[in-house]
Amino acid sequence: MSDNNWTKTRNPAFNRENALHMDRIAKTAFRPIYPVIARNAMDATGVRHGRCLDLGAGPGMLAMAVAQAVPGMPVTAFDFSDDSLEIARENIRQAGLEKQITTTAGDVHGMPFENAEFDLIVSRGSMFFWDDLKGAFAEILRVLAPGGGTYIGGGFGSLKLRQHVIEEMAKIDPSWDCYAKKKTDDNGLTRFEKMFSELSCDSHRIINDDTGFWIVLSKREN
Ligand SMILES: C[S@@+](CC[C@H](N)C(=O)[O-])C[C@H]1O[C@@H](n2cnc3c(N)ncnc32)[C@H](O)[C@@H]1O
Repeated sequence: MSDNNWTKTRNPAFNRENALHMDRIAKTAFRPIYPVIARNAMDATGVRHGRCLDLGAGPGMLAMAVAQAVPGMPVTAFDFSDDSLEIARENIRQAGLEKQITTTAGDVHGMPFENAEFDLIVSRGSMFFWDDLKGAFAEILRVLAPGGGTYIGGGFGSLKLRQHVIEEMAKIDPSWDCYAKKKTDDNGLTRFEKMFSELSCDSHRIINDDTGFWIVLSKREN
């Protein structure tokens, strides 16, 4: 998809300072959204078993929310920022989840995983930064197991939570670029539809409502 696609947000610098900033807001303004998004992901995909992968996990909050929602489910927190993963490991340790959640460094466009390794693939607030959405989703479909599903996108879980985050973020960082305020136009949705038909996934659904913008892909059982 072209560079000017609507999902692009301001140019990020994935440095330590921004990783620490994400950690701070994930523990304050964003804190209540992660358990809701984890629950929404399982409701939307129907997947509550097997292995979970959190793409662009940052400080690891969604990975931890999934792990807490399904005790015993192995979760991999994946990110290309070593600074973020160092922060995530400390958060996971403090939550006592180090036996359930592992961290892996790498780029979503070429992941160090076997085919069909994960049943539930979640991701929040990361795809807006990916360089090549089609390449990234092809890679995601490669590591998705038959019977599995994805819940990938951005948002805050509900209208109430979105309002809460916008109010809290206005106090913390008035310059915050809230992509959730941007509305997905029909053109953007059509381009996603075209992309998924070209990727020939078994089924795809785009959720674009008060919970956020989420891409639900699924793979049939063999
Ligand atoms: C805005 S943060 C969101 C963090 C976390 N998902 C959350 O919601 O709290 C985006 C994260 O995506 C990661 N990221 C961006 N592009 C990536 C890529 N191509 N491969 C892996 N991680 C990526 C960044 O390092 C960053 O930690």
